[in-house]
Amino acid sequence: MTITPIDATTTAAWEALTAHQTSLEPDLRAWFAADHDRASRLTRTVGDLHVDLSKNLVTDQTLALLVQLAGEVGLAGRIDAMFAGEHINVTEDRAVLHTALRRPASATPPLIVDGQDVDADVQAVLAQVDAFADKVRSGAWTGVTGARVATVVNIGIGGSDLGPVMAYEALKPYVADGLTVRFVSNIDPADVAETVKDLDPTTTLFIVASKTFGTLETLTNARLARAWLWEQLLAAGAIEDTEAARTEAVARHFVAVSTALDKVAEFGIDPANAFGFWDWVGGRYSVDSAIGTSLAIAVGPHNFRAFLNGFHTVDEHFRTVPFEQNVPVLMGLLNVWYVNFLGAHTHAVLPYAQYLHRFAAYLQQLTMESNGKSVRWDGTPVTTQTGEIFWGEPGTNGQHAFYQLIHQGTRLIPADFIAVATPAHPLRDAGSPGGEADVHELFLANFFAQTKALAFGMTADEVRAAGVAEEIVPARVFSGNRPTTSIMAPALTPGVLGQLIALYEHITFVQGIVWGVDSFDQWGVQLGKLLAVEIAPAVAGDADVLATQDASTRGLIEYYRANRT
Ligand code: F6P
Repeated sequence: MTITPIDATTTAAWEALTAHQTSLEPDLRAWFAADHDRASRLTRTVGDLHVDLSKNLVTDQTLALLVQLAGEVGLAGRIDAMFAGEHINVTEDRAVLHTALRRPASATPPLIVDGQDVDADVQAVLAQVDAFADKVRSGAWTGVTGARVATVVNIGIGGSDLGPVMAYEALKPYVADGLTVRFVSNIDPADVAETVKDLDPTTTLFIVASKTFGTLETLTNARLARAWLWEQLLAAGAIEDTEAARTEAVARHFVAVSTALDKVAEFGIDPANAFGFWDWVGGRYSVDSAIGTSLAIAVGPHNFRAFLNGFHTVDEHFRTVPFEQNVPVLMGLLNVWYVNFLGAHTHAVLPYAQYLHRFAAYLQQLTMESNGKSVRWDGTPVTTQTGEIFWGEPGTNGQHAFYQLIHQGTRLIPADFIAVATPAHPLRDAGSPGGEADVHELFLANFFAQTKALAFGMTADEVRAAGVAEEIVPARVFSGNRPTTSIMAPALTPGVLGQLIALYEHITFVQGIVWGVDSFDQWGVQLGKLLAVEIAPAVAGDADVLATQDASTRGLIEYYRANRT
């Protein structure tokens, strides 16, 4: 039975938050000056993550009202429903159980959902992925010529790409010597062409990663990769020009990850080389399923398990810790505060960790495909703004690009800053003007300085006191009161990465529950896909199909056909 979402805007907490917002005059300078405990009181811990919420535009009362709101929309019940495997993905009538992917093998009692022993299924596939990863890493798995794998190419898009590529980049220091993973996602032929052009086919393994095994981009790229493999192996004299040799080449150089194992077999990949998962894993929540096989090969089964344990630590926190101390709950509620009460439209995620350079791109799918909805899970229109535009780049690069707008622009942009204490590369700069410097410390000084500048700004008097000419004082003033959350961890380990991902998964869930949307469907991506199939013949020259197009689309296609050389 579908429960009706509780309309957050009708709750007493919403009314109280509206009144509270009207009377609140955020003043982080004054708040910190008057309240020496503010930083410690508003800092929380989850797993290895130290999360300082104190530079947000909230008082204790704001947080209390937000927690009240979570209670009034029934968040606790929805969390329980998700972990129990209820079909909370209403529009697709599915359970939402990415949390089951990281339950330890020893978890009791077993999780039975829709008559299936989910734990047993998960552990069986994990064992398969581990065994395969070990074979590739040890050289026991070879290509047709007997050469061991040097390059893994993951072919997938959306959740079947963004998670693996983000995590692979984040965990580069853990990647085995002699192994590289590349990623092909775009149907722009430039992507696959550039990715394979310098590869040795005899040492290349392709992983076709697609939940549905029906995604146009992925299947097209997989066929292009297969054609490239055959052509290159033939040219190198590595295989005979026979059907049997081609079949054998695919068996040795292609594996697949999918929920649709029948379609994998149709493509020609041996089902013995296919790793399954289940429809209760959303694409954007799947990096911790067999979709992470490329990562498991790169960093090894041991580190992949540590990655999963990191997720589980945050899952347990989210499931059990009271809302006042619950980091994903508080961060999700803060986002609601900014979007619905303070008018923010976007949210910056700014990792001070070069290895996290794809983290914001990953979060874009996680958050925006989940919560970019205009109807609630019962089909009624939403009653308030939903979603936020997530974006970001690693610091300090962003400082020299878009931070100007965050510091002095007219928009409110809440930002999450992420940093780790221990660098992967403890380099020192012997030629630093102030004497030999630890470069990671210079890097972190920027991290600390930015959130400080955003929170406390610089007044006109302070600008004048620095000797600035009066006419440019206004341009040099920083208003401050620009909210940030600082997240720190001891180091960017597989476990910490898992914790960070799970944190944002659950933040997204909290926002979805407050807004009453189904955070686990993605119908909004369908129309464009259908139209692309419909338009394709016109692009290829079918005049009848062209004639049915609107004038703008027709004109654009005609331009293409006239200008293609
Ligand atoms: O088009 C959106 C989407 O369905 C995503 O939700 C998904 O992650 C991506 O496409 C890829 O889908 P698949 O893994 O089935 O190829």
